[in-house]
Amino acid sequence: MQGFRPKGDEFLVILTGAGISAESGLGTFRDKDGLWTRYDLNEIATPEGFARNPKLVLDFYNARRRNAREAVPNAAHEALARLQRDWGGDVLIVTQNVDDLHERAGSGQVLHIHGGLEGALCAACGHRWPAPAAMAPADPCPVCGKPGTRPDIVWFGEIPYHMDEVWFALRQCDLFVSIGTSGTVYPAAAFAQDASRAGAYCVEINAETSAVAGDFDAILIGPATRAVPDWVAGMLAVRNSAA
Ligand code: APR
Repeated sequence: MQGFRPKGDEFLVILTGAGISAESGLGTFRDKDGLWTRYDLNEIATPEGFARNPKLVLDFYNARRRNAREAVPNAAHEALARLQRDWGGDVLIVTQNVDDLHERAGSGQVLHIHGGLEGALCAACGHRWPAPAAMAPADPCPVCGKPGTRPDIVWFGEIPYHMDEVWFALRQCDLFVSIGTSGTVYPAAAFAQDASRAGAYCVEINAETSAVAGDFDAILIGPATRAVPDWVAGMLAVRNSAA
């Protein structure tokens, strides 16, 4: 990152997308044979689709929950957990992913702006609880008893979670890094612009340049399990030499 000379105590905000979990065997959405090339997102990932056919939607997320539970964190998740542990400043991970591989790699400070497969939500009363392995349309909410329970996932047309905290962090951070996202879904696709406008240096780490590559000061192309550990090693080397 020729234009950015970290001292080792900067505030880092790291956005992750499906690409960071791809090498753990979890599908991405828009790559060749990605999820949205095999399913109609209007049927699967919208409140209207859920209202039309709750069983179709719950079965889809039951399968993704099963896959996520069987997957293991990869070298990229582990490198970010190492960075959060050893860096001299705050490292906030903002993820679009609904798997819990960051947490299982040892990361704290993870904001899931699109929710998570391990959460269940009652569409009737708003109660949240840990999701069972499989959800069914007749499942009663543990609090209000009504059916209509759903995965605690943010669908298209719904408001992402934690956005006040994210916007604040983007305005405060010194370095913004985006990993494994196509930069096609907002608000996350605008995060680099917001951070850059507030003075942050922005880096994109991805298998290929994203739709918002022009918003970044540096772009590192490669598979996450190689590019992310390499980048983290470089950052921690700076930290150690500055210490
Ligand atoms: N290493 C690094 N990057 C990778 C890898 C890999 N091994 N494999 C794929 N990628 C990159 C792809 O090049 C692509 O740019 O990851 C990106 C995945 O893009 P998408 O499939 O669009 O996933 P994402 O950007 O996370 O989607 C954003 O869209 O459908 C919604 O809610 C869903 O959170 C999701 C959001």
